[in-house]
Amino acid sequence: MGFREDFLWGGATAANQCEGGYNKGGRGLANVDLAPTGKDRFPVITGEMKMFDFDDEHFYPAKEAIDMYTHFKEDIALFAEMGFKTYRLSIAWSRIFPKGDEKEPNEEGLKFYEDIFKECQKYGIEPLVTITHFDCPMHLVEKYGAWRSREMIGFYENLCRVIFNRYKGLVKYWLTFNEINMILHAPFMGAGLYFEEGENKEQVKYQAAHHELVASAIATKIAHEVDPENQVGCMLAAGTNYPYTCNPEDVWAAKKSDRENYFFIDVQSRGEYPAYALLKMEREGIVIDMTEEDLALLKEYTVDFISFSYYSSRVQTTDPELLEQTAGNIFASVKNPYLPASEWGWQIDPLGLRITMNDLYDRYQKPLFIVENGLGAVDTPDENGYVADDYRIEYLAAHIEAMRDAVELDGVDLMGYTSWGCIDLVSAGTGEMKKRYGFIYVDRDNEGNGTLKRSKKKSFDWYKKVIATNGQDLENN
Ligand code: BG6
Repeated sequence: MGFREDFLWGGATAANQCEGGYNKGGRGLANVDLAPTGKDRFPVITGEMKMFDFDDEHFYPAKEAIDMYTHFKEDIALFAEMGFKTYRLSIAWSRIFPKGDEKEPNEEGLKFYEDIFKECQKYGIEPLVTITHFDCPMHLVEKYGAWRSREMIGFYENLCRVIFNRYKGLVKYWLTFNEINMILHAPFMGAGLYFEEGENKEQVKYQAAHHELVASAIATKIAHEVDPENQVGCMLAAGTNYPYTCNPEDVWAAKKSDRENYFFIDVQSRGEYPAYALLKMEREGIVIDMTEEDLALLKEYTVDFISFSYYSSRVQTTDPELLEQTAGNIFASVKNPYLPASEWGWQIDPLGLRITMNDLYDRYQKPLFIVENGLGAVDTPDENGYVADDYRIEYLAAHIEAMRDAVELDGVDLMGYTSWGCIDLVSAGTGEMKKRYGFIYVDRDNEGNGTLKRSKKKSFDWYKKVIATNGQDLENN
């Protein structure tokens, strides 16, 4: 058996973490531009600290990032050399609509992505486009409070209509919101939400999430109307929660934590709010402004496939003695004593990927797409500038093997795999450059110094072989 013949192997990036050119081509300012490096990053991305413009005290890595804005042809040629079948990238909303609420789009921004998609087409690479990877034009944040406002649905709809029509024939795979559940954990970065003193944050977050869910359903509707070939996916920051012990209290805590994340996908895939979520909101006094029309849209326009990121499993316990935390993708978890961890403390659990895939497939029975997975590590080039990243190969091989097991032994339907940060880029969590995920090294440091020269790491040739053998040969030789 093995992977599908048309399995979509590739890599993933996000506009704000690689493009740079934050003020080029008529682009407007976005929330993601304003996340600095250093100790203030976390308060900013969680909406606790107001950062609505640049200041002189901070460094903002997204401004230049790895300047893919000017290097994209070179970068896509390297992806093609590895044999990519797909390239996951995101559109910067404020390149297309600099303020977000204009009627007419910015032609220069539209042309920029058209050039990228044509470049992909030249090599037979299928673009997989995230419509919003955390970004929101700052004008929408300041004037409307971003996703807390219902008006956002209309602005997003306008963006979707424009891009679906313009890129018809060039793009057929779309994701509506990157890691939609991140709105709960990093609300400013994830959805442009900044909180005023004394506000009921949960109320704001769930109302904003509702607007995103309705916007996602509308996007699915329009995508199918514009081109029946279009396929639309949701996107979850996944990673099953394990109970720390078999104490039913721990098992229940793990289940509750899973549901906090599945809630979004339950709506996007099954078409309605699950009873557990409605009851939880009621208990917590969260009242969502929800119309009959919203409910009808959610019901009718569910997603075609389920995409997700997977970096690690998580652990839950109710025992206060055992609450030693470990870092994870934005939100921390209880430390799992059975697992090793990356240099950033993210625990490494390949079998957890198989478990997560099974959980998602059992729950939704729709094709899955792994659109992020990888190891953030410090790479040290040798005297010739070469990075022998055996640790990355080991991580990826173990995860690909686990996903092969999920396909071959468990019968999970998997469309593709795009490893995260196929070219080194700025970390979303920390803003660092030295947390690298790529097969391609980029000469740039945390302070923004470096030539931006691209060079192939050892994992480059390894991944090329993995793709050429459709995931059968994972040996590191
Ligand atoms: C996901 C995001 O949360 O994880 C990416 O979709 C992010 O944008 C990735 O870069 C890895 O996280 P980090 O913090 O190591 O960049």
